[in-house]
Amino acid sequence: MIKRAFPLNKKLIVANWKMNPESLKEAKGIFDSLKKKNLQIKKTIPVICPPYLYESDLSMGYRGNKFKFGFQDIHFKSDDQSTGEISTEMAQNSKVEYVIIGHSERRQNGETNKTVSLKMKKVIDANLTAILCIGEEERDNQGNYLRFIEEQLVESLSTITNKKVSKLVIAYEPIWAIGKGKTSMDPSDLHRINIFIKKILVSIYSKKIAMNIPILYGGSVDADNAKEIIKEGHVDGLLVGRSSLNPHLFADIIKEVESV
Ligand code: PGA
Repeated sequence: MIKRAFPLNKKLIVANWKMNPESLKEAKGIFDSLKKKNLQIKKTIPVICPPYLYESDLSMGYRGNKFKFGFQDIHFKSDDQSTGEISTEMAQNSKVEYVIIGHSERRQNGETNKTVSLKMKKVIDANLTAILCIGEEERDNQGNYLRFIEEQLVESLSTITNKKVSKLVIAYEPIWAIGKGKTSMDPSDLHRINIFIKKILVSIYSKKIAMNIPILYGGSVDADNAKEIIKEGHVDGLLVGRSSLNPHLFADIIKEVESV
């Protein structure tokens, strides 16, 4: 049987806290109220990705296993001369199991597909699960955005061989749907892109392997659209930004997905 990053009957729900909140006290407050919800977690795997500074405090004091932990980025090298960076070894020696790679906000700051591909290899070689973010900035009628998505996928996955795919998750996040004032994408449109992404994955890997790679959606996910996105977009989970910073909203998203 082909190994998969997480079981087929589960949905991955990733909380990307980005550069929030401003203090450890607030970070603990968010996580504590999430824990107090006593959520029934059966069909989902919630992953909390706080800033590095708060991650160990949150995860080390946590005795449960409902919530998993992730980093929002990682360095592509292991050496003693990378000021300001965080290594895969540090992740391995913590409770972190997942790493978001190539988020659009990092790509906007200059991260290239080449760097993303090096990070992908580093993370998967370290036996951590890599969540590769891809997505176009805007749509056009000529289909250039499809070529853009294809290029991002092919180049970012250039270091990932068939054998390593068991630690791979793709997160499709169209930039035009991310952040304040934006709305999530139409689930039936998402379904079409999902099929398009699968086709590209089939061209890179064999069909059997490619069809097993989980695909998440991210961009203005909230408790009102989560269920529809999962059901009609046919995705394997969600990458949640703003709504993951509010424990009540994030708990509601988890509940919605649990009820699918
Ligand atoms: P959003 O962010 O949910 O706030 O749109 C998603 C993301 O950037 O991962």
